[in-house]
Amino acid sequence: MTTGFDVINPATEEVVRTVPLTSAQDTDAAIERAHAAWPAWRAVVPADRARLLRRFAAAVDAEVENLALLEVANAGHTIGNARWEAGNVRDVLDYYSAAPERLFGRQIPVPGGVNMTFAEPLGVVGVIVPWNFPMPIAGWGFAPALAAGNTVVLKPAELTPLTAIRIGELARAAGIPEDVFQVLPGKGSVVGQRFVDHPAVRKIVFTGSTEVGKQIMAGCARQVKRVTLELGGKNANIVFADADLEKAAATAPYGVFDNAGQDCCARSRILVQRSVYDRFLELLEPAVRGVVVGDPGLAATEMGPLISSAHRASVAAYVPDDAPVAFRGSAPDGPGFWFPPTVLAPVSASDPAVTEEVFGPVVAVLPFEDEDDAVRIANDTEYGLSGSIWTRDVGRALRVSRGVEAGNLSVNSHSSVRYWTPFGGFKQSGLGRELGPDAVAAFTETKNVFIAND
Ligand code: TAP
Repeated sequence: MTTGFDVINPATEEVVRTVPLTSAQDTDAAIERAHAAWPAWRAVVPADRARLLRRFAAAVDAEVENLALLEVANAGHTIGNARWEAGNVRDVLDYYSAAPERLFGRQIPVPGGVNMTFAEPLGVVGVIVPWNFPMPIAGWGFAPALAAGNTVVLKPAELTPLTAIRIGELARAAGIPEDVFQVLPGKGSVVGQRFVDHPAVRKIVFTGSTEVGKQIMAGCARQVKRVTLELGGKNANIVFADADLEKAAATAPYGVFDNAGQDCCARSRILVQRSVYDRFLELLEPAVRGVVVGDPGLAATEMGPLISSAHRASVAAYVPDDAPVAFRGSAPDGPGFWFPPTVLAPVSASDPAVTEEVFGPVVAVLPFEDEDDAVRIANDTEYGLSGSIWTRDVGRALRVSRGVEAGNLSVNSHSSVRYWTPFGGFKQSGLGRELGPDAVAAFTETKNVFIAND
């Protein structure tokens, strides 16, 4: 460990704690320890590996409240969201604790002998986590990786290391050997870069910006290193005239302003059929003004601050003085990186707030004519992560779901992430899938073995 980083509470701008930053040398040493720990970890019999993961889940469960409070202080997440996020780590660990005892191969009929396949672990897996959902995104990587028999080094975002550090301690308390799961707070350009460059790391799981994701992918290519990428999004919430407009308008703010819009799945473009466009905006206005923005530690709060001063400046650049603001919600004065929920309408299709990922509480509302037009506008982006479709017509829901180029769609809801189902992006929103029944396969290699009869 070399220098330290002051972790700031984004709701108060006060220093929460100073966290040491891991150096390149210490990162290499940790990777080498993880590599040395791998043979013993993969040899732990499946039932015991499963039991250890269940104990790890129980340790997280016992700490849900503390982890949630840490996230409120570190990331400004609302207490309700933060409790869900800590619970998600527990649930994902429980879900993948079933995997070690179910890592089945296949027996394939061949002439002259018996053929079977094995799902072999990869070795050391490097998980690189962004600041927007520090707990769940970490868990989606480390839980299936550990279950499959890999060892893990995890780098939280420099801004939000506190919950990951605590989860590392809980793993150890639950009996996961020290070098099997290591949390290394530090800079992406130092720790993350060593994960990419060190040959003993066999796979990178990266969640973050599309820009950094491309660099990671290029770096991994040098060693043909496996990589899963979960990147940005510019998701459409498509509202047809036949939808339950009241419900669509009442829920739309939460589809984009949850986590202050710092969500790769934020529905930051609302596409509304032209015949109901004005009516929808009338219904949307009170819903937006009603979003409770403030102290994230209070149970009633629905939206907290942005993560940092620099990020607030980046979000504010999408709302210049002459921006077509239709209406806004509220935000506290005083310390904290606050930004009010903001609705842009009518807005040009070429406005950066329409074409780029804002990653803040800013939404653009655009009209469309018919189904084809809605699908064309929704797909007019290099991203393809999530989206919503509001209609009462089942056939239309299916046609539009099949037409939109995105990995995670929901009809008459804004749900994106459920740990039982696969999650990931089309186009430049990512590569590979996390969660769901198949995630463990992304942490194993298929080995084929033929045994001759004679
Ligand atoms: P990034 O700047 O890309 O950072 C993500 C992580 O990568 C951080 O831990 C960062 O470390 C690290 N990193 C930066 N440069 C690196 C390098 N050269 N080598 C290795 N690691 C490096 O993204 P962000 O601003 O934190 O997060 C916001 C972005 O994440 C948004 O675009 C959002 O859409 C995306 N996101 C996507 C998803 C999914 S699931 N698709 C989920 C959440 C967020 P430091 O922060 O310490 O520098």
